[in-house]
Amino acid sequence: MKFFVDTADVSEIGDLAATGLLDGVTTNPSLIMKAGRPMAEVVAEICRLVDGPVSAEVAATDFDGMLAEARKLAEIAENIAIKVPLTWDGLKACRTLSGEGRMVNVTLCFNANQALLAGRAGATFISPFIGRLDDIGIDGMELIGEIRTIYDNYDHIETQILAASIRSPNHVKTAAMIGADVATVPPAVLKGLVKHPLTDKGLDAFLADWKKTGQSIL
Ligand code: E4P
Repeated sequence: MKFFVDTADVSEIGDLAATGLLDGVTTNPSLIMKAGRPMAEVVAEICRLVDGPVSAEVAATDFDGMLAEARKLAEIAENIAIKVPLTWDGLKACRTLSGEGRMVNVTLCFNANQALLAGRAGATFISPFIGRLDDIGIDGMELIGEIRTIYDNYDHIETQILAASIRSPNHVKTAAMIGADVATVPPAVLKGLVKHPLTDKGLDAFLADWKKTGQSIL
């Protein structure tokens, strides 16, 4: 499974990119608002830090407006993936943009039929929002499984499942077990994946015993 980070915080992205484990970045209008800087400037900086797809979301809701914005966003860098909402106009824009060879991330997916439509529209990524479904008492992970089953039934659908709205390490693990292609993870959750108290305890014990040997490897 590939890892994207779900943030527009350039310094966090820089730190994570340095691990070599970052395959891409997703942003959305709320994350851009949080960054408090002009979108074009932030997104351009992110694209310089990460080689993989960087999702930048359109704000227009009509087909022509989405296309105009998408083309402007695509000028920022080669690795821009245009993010469009899962609406009829968004699907039409997805079909047009993917026909032009652009990467498209169809966002705000909350059921399997929506994902099927995005697959048919030639989306590069479909973003099912796990956490937001969990929030309203629907098992978000079940949706990941449904989409995996549907996409695996049809060779002509090449859309990657980008598990989004991830809130915990458990979401990451379960999405990987089900076979999501990508998880876009908030920085704190991504950093938390490495943690286990027994790892820390074991390392402390090994280091204490090593000290007692009086040896040095170098
Ligand atoms: C995905 O691309 C979205 O930016 C994101 O995962 C939304 O997550 P949230 O529900 O935590 O806002």
